[in-house]
Formats: sequence, structure tokens, C-alpha cells
Amino acid sequence: MSDLQVVAAALRRARHVVVFTGAGVSAESGIPTFRDALSGLWQRFDPGDLATAEAFRRDPALVWGWYEWRRAQVLKARPNPAHQAIAALARQVPKLTLVTQNVDDLHERAGSSEVIHLHGSLHAPRCFACARPFAGLAADPQEPAAGRRLEPPRCPHCGGRVRPGVVWFGEELPAQALQQAFAAAGECDLLLSVGTSGVVYPAARIPQLALESGALLVHVNPQAAAAEGAREYWLGGAAGLVLPQLLAQAFAGDVVG
Ligand code: NAD
Ligand code: APR
Repeated sequence: MSDLQVVAAALRRARHVVVFTGAGVSAESGIPTFRDALSGLWQRFDPGDLATAEAFRRDPALVWGWYEWRRAQVLKARPNPAHQAIAALARQVPKLTLVTQNVDDLHERAGSSEVIHLHGSLHAPRCFACARPFAGLAADPQEPAAGRRLEPPRCPHCGGRVRPGVVWFGEELPAQALQQAFAAAGECDLLLSVGTSGVVYPAARIPQLALESGALLVHVNPQAAAAEGAREYWLGGAAGLVLPQLLAQAFAGDVVG
């Protein structure tokens, strides 16, 4: 049997599947990843200038403008067949937990619900001073070019600057989201790790925890993943191609995507 057939058979038998996604699942929607060789955001920008609380204190307009540039990209993007296949998978297995590191809403727009966002969301800004959610985001952000400064809005409650609702380097992840993700990884039969380089902790601990708890761990990524042992597989390729193939193989006549 091919690896795809082995994984498809395991998917058919699974009671509880965890899907853990990173920036790669949105790559085919035109959203840049962080560490891809040429197009990765951290190849083009210094996270120290943009993705830390210190950077926001130092230059709030630069940070706010950069995240509004990213939010404009997300609003223009559409879910791709990988997002659609994950939403379809939830209708095929008894239980599916979707955990994402991504700050876009493409899983939700593809029909997934109860998405666990470990690194927050571009659509959930809050006040940097009083932490109250900010509801005044422009529906179509001024098209800031990457690197163009944009003064962040002010909090209507305390006048503090509004910050992006994402988890920055050095910040804690939302405790409840992380706890839910760890619990699901600890009791699932199969974890699909889709489009992540697996270098950022504590999120990167999740696939390892599933494997240690006896689940099958399957990496979906064009970049080769070190799939050691009998319970770890790498399905090489773009998620938008591999996931629809996997679902078709597992659930026969199902129309996916
Ligand atoms: P870390 O902050 O030491 O960062 C590790 C990696 O992130 C580095 O190897 C580099 O790739 C990048 N990085 C972080 N700060 C940088 C800087 N100032 N300049 C250049 N590169 C930088 O540790 P961590 O594990 O990445 O993150 C610690 C906390 O921050 C965790 O709670 C994590 O979830 C959160 N976080 C991290 C990232 C990230 O990309 N590292 C993204 C969102 C949230
Ligand atoms: N399908 C599947 N995987 C893909 C595709 C694709 N079409 N295109 C790229 N990839 C893979 C790359 O090979 C890489 O392994 O997606 C992965 C993206 O890795 P990163 O850019 O490091 O993104 P991610 O793993 O999500 O980063 C984790 O780091 O900076 C932070 O907050 C940021 O949440 C992010 C975290």
C-alpha cells in the first residue's frame, strides 16, 4: 500500500482526528508563509521590527501599517482546496479538532467551525493599554503597502493605541486555546500536521504530543519532514492537492472541495 492509502485507511477508522495547520495551508490562497526560502515574510522583514510588543512601543505606525497590509491580503484571499478539504473532513469523521497557528480566517470562510487559534487573529484587534477588544476596524483597510506607516486607531474607552490581535514573539499564547489543543493531541487517533515548519514552540509541541500519545502523525508539506518510526508519515506536496486526494482515497465517492 502507498503511504496515502495507509493514511486513508487510518482516517476511515479514526474516532478523533486533529488537524494542526500553519501558514502553508494558506499559501495557495496567496498568503505568504514566514520561512519559505524566497517568499517567506521573515526572509523579507525583520520580526524584531514588526512582531514584538517592543516593536509596537517603538514604532506603532510601522507595526500597525504592516498588519493592515497583511489584513488587506487576507480580505482579498479566498479559501483554497486545502481549507475546503479540512472542512469536508469534519463531516466524515466522528470528531475533528482544528488547531491553527494562522491569524487569517480562511478556515472559517471554508466552513470550519470552532477553530482553535493559537496565535490570535488579524480580525480581533484590541487596545494595547486596557486590552479591550476594538470593534472599529475598517471593512476595507486602506491599501497600505508593506512597510507604509499607518497610525493605529485609539481605544474609545481609554484612548490607548489599538494593536493587532495576534500573539507576538515572546508573548504567551491564549491559555485556554493551548490547553484545548494539548488535550485534543493527547487523545486523538490521528494528527494531520499541514503546512507548518514546526519550529515555533509551544505550538510545535502539539504534533509531538500526539505521536507520544499513540496517534498516527501525518505531515502534509512539500518540504520533506523527518517521518521516523512506524506511526509517522510524510505526504509530500501542496496541501491543496494532497488533502483532496487523501479524502477521495479515504471516503471513496465523496465529492470534496
Ligand atoms: P523566540 O521568540 O525566541 O523566537 C524564535 C524564532 O522566532 C527565532 O528563531 C526567529 O525565527 C524568530 N524570532 C523571534 N524573535 C525574533 C527577533 N526579535 N528577531 C528575529 N527573529 C525573531 O521564541 P518563539 O518560540 O518563536 O516564541 C516565543 C513565544 O512567542 C511563544 O509563546 C510563541 O508562541 C510566541 N510566538 C512566536 C512566534 C514566532 O514566529 N517565533 C510567532 C507568534 C508567537
Ligand atoms: N502546502 C503545504 N505546506 C506548504 C505549502 C503548501 N502549499 N507551501 C509551503 N508549505 C510549508 C513550508 O514548506 C513550511 O514548512 O509550510 C510551512 C510554513 O512554515 P512557516 O512559514 O514557518 O509557517 P508556520 O509554521 O505557520 O510558522 C509558525 O511562526 O512567525 C510565526 O506566528 C507565526 O504562526 C507562525 C509561526
